[in-house]
Amino acid sequence: MKILITADIHYTLKQYDWLMQIGPGFDLVILAGDLLDAFSTVDPRVQIAVVEKYLARLAAKTRLMVCSGNHDLDARDEHGERVAQWIAKGVRASGIPADGDAVSVDGILFSICPWWDGPLTKDRIGAQLARDAKAEKKRWIWVYHAPPIGSRISHEMREFGDAELARWIDEYQPDLVFCGHVHNAPFRPDGSWIDTRGRTFVFNAGRQIGEVPTHVMLDVEESSALWFSLMGPQTAALDKPLTFPVPNLTAAPAWLTAMDQAGGQNPA
Ligand SMILES: [Fe+2]
Repeated sequence: MKILITADIHYTLKQYDWLMQIGPGFDLVILAGDLLDAFSTVDPRVQIAVVEKYLARLAAKTRLMVCSGNHDLDARDEHGERVAQWIAKGVRASGIPADGDAVSVDGILFSICPWWDGPLTKDRIGAQLARDAKAEKKRWIWVYHAPPIGSRISHEMREFGDAELARWIDEYQPDLVFCGHVHNAPFRPDGSWIDTRGRTFVFNAGRQIGEVPTHVMLDVEESSALWFSLMGPQTAALDKPLTFPVPNLTAAPAWLTAMDQAGGQNPA
């Protein structure tokens, strides 16, 4: 299974255009939150309408999963906690797995978690993970916007990691967790786009300007992950201990070259 993961597109339409072009070449595309931009001059309702169209177009061509980030909150629930209702209701109703869902693909269970802005939503995530922990699975992957606290992927000017996520990772030890949120963490000298917490690999592709979002490509069977950004591509093996700094990619792995040939375009 070949997965394309990005986050923090923040209503950058050219980056959505890139996703429409590249995403269909993958078995699965994951958007790990902050699809909208709360500071944009574009009305949030307009942003939602436009992004929903992009998501529907992409979901018609490949499997797509989406979780909410802190920029995606458009409503309050019955308890007054801020939630991304357009994702939890609208996106899910259109058939795209999103906040609160568990999806099994080829024996891999994906748990997709919402951004939590209050104790009740946080407790719902705890219940969701406790539920999914009991499900049968070969591997377990989480999609969760904020990275875990105390990680190379969670720090820029200060620590922005989520202590609850760190606790849940320690408790359940999933295989992979796809995050976002801390835009510059991968670009810092002591930062990274990939790290481990116990046996769990955690990812944050970061954010950059331009037409191509920072992104991770991952081949599950090959245990191979690649990161693409303006800093140049880097590569990590998921069946070996990580080394830092993460090595630059010097030659495309066979699985990427094969995709290239099949798709007729360079996905990077
Ligand atoms: Fe963000």
